[in-house]
Amino acid sequence: MTAEQTHAGRRVLVTGAGQRLGRVIARELALRGAEVLVNDLDAGRADAVVGEIQAAGGKASAAVFDVTDFGSVTAAAAALGPVDVLVNNAGNAGRPAGPTRDDFAWFTATDPADWDGFLKVNLYGVMHTARAFVPAMVERSWGRVVTIISDAGRLGEPTMAAYSAAKAGAAGFSRALAREVGRHGVTVNCVSLGTVGPDRAEGEPDAPELAQSVGRYVIRRSGRPGEVAAMVAFLSGPDGGWVTGQTYPMNGGYSFAL
Ligand SMILES: NC(=O)c1ccc[n+]([C@@H]2O[C@H](COP(=O)([O-])OP(=O)(O)OC[C@H]3O[C@@H](n4cnc5c(N)ncnc54)[C@H](O)[C@@H]3O)[C@@H](O)[C@H]2O)c1
Repeated sequence: MTAEQTHAGRRVLVTGAGQRLGRVIARELALRGAEVLVNDLDAGRADAVVGEIQAAGGKASAAVFDVTDFGSVTAAAAALGPVDVLVNNAGNAGRPAGPTRDDFAWFTATDPADWDGFLKVNLYGVMHTARAFVPAMVERSWGRVVTIISDAGRLGEPTMAAYSAAKAGAAGFSRALAREVGRHGVTVNCVSLGTVGPDRAEGEPDAPELAQSVGRYVIRRSGRPGEVAAMVAFLSGPDGGWVTGQTYPMNGGYSFAL
């Protein structure tokens, strides 16, 4: 079965697309006809995802830069040219290795230096890419920005205060940007996630430790990356054009939005 070509002719940049969620989003948008620029800090990971997309008959190239470094982001924007869709997925602690146990601590036991990594990637990273890539969307009167945040940013999560602050900041930033650029055909939205598990087939159960941590969700399982990719595809595709300034929770019912 071939996917509906909702993104045919679109150039898409997915940040942090070298693994897990970003990788699945990049693959899904490529399957839907987009030319995907696969960003990551880690060149090997970006190349591997490009290879997977090309092997499946899709269009992709690697775009290796650090979203926390504004100079690198603007240089990349100049080299890559305009994109139609920007997916801000790079996040967590902003390192290829992902967060470690030391990243989680009660706020009163942390110092500003501990907050930096979270704020740089989850807030400044989003602002950097928007600043670099949105002007061309405005000029061309069409664009989509989708940013992956976390329910930590909507509800607050103990031991994750800086991450919560940064994700909430990204959502606030997105609402303001949405108001500025909507008249130019550019939409700006966020998807707020609960715990997303590994890429897996429908019905495949969570590993026991993960199952325990998502046991309080209304739908008692972790999310599948493909489910998130489908939401990103909707928001960045032709049917998402009248949705802007919103934050969509996808969290198995961990929290509800009115
Ligand atoms: N996985 C979850 O359960 C979950 C839950 C809530 C929110 N999120 C959010 O979803 C997004 C993806 O999460 P994930 O768990 O798949 O991520 P991950 O940490 O597994 O992978 C992120 C990728 O981004 C890259 N990266 C990190 N910093 C970067 C930078 N400064 N510039 C460019 N690339 C960079 C890493 O090398 C890595 O390949 C993140 O924004 C995360 O905060 C994830």
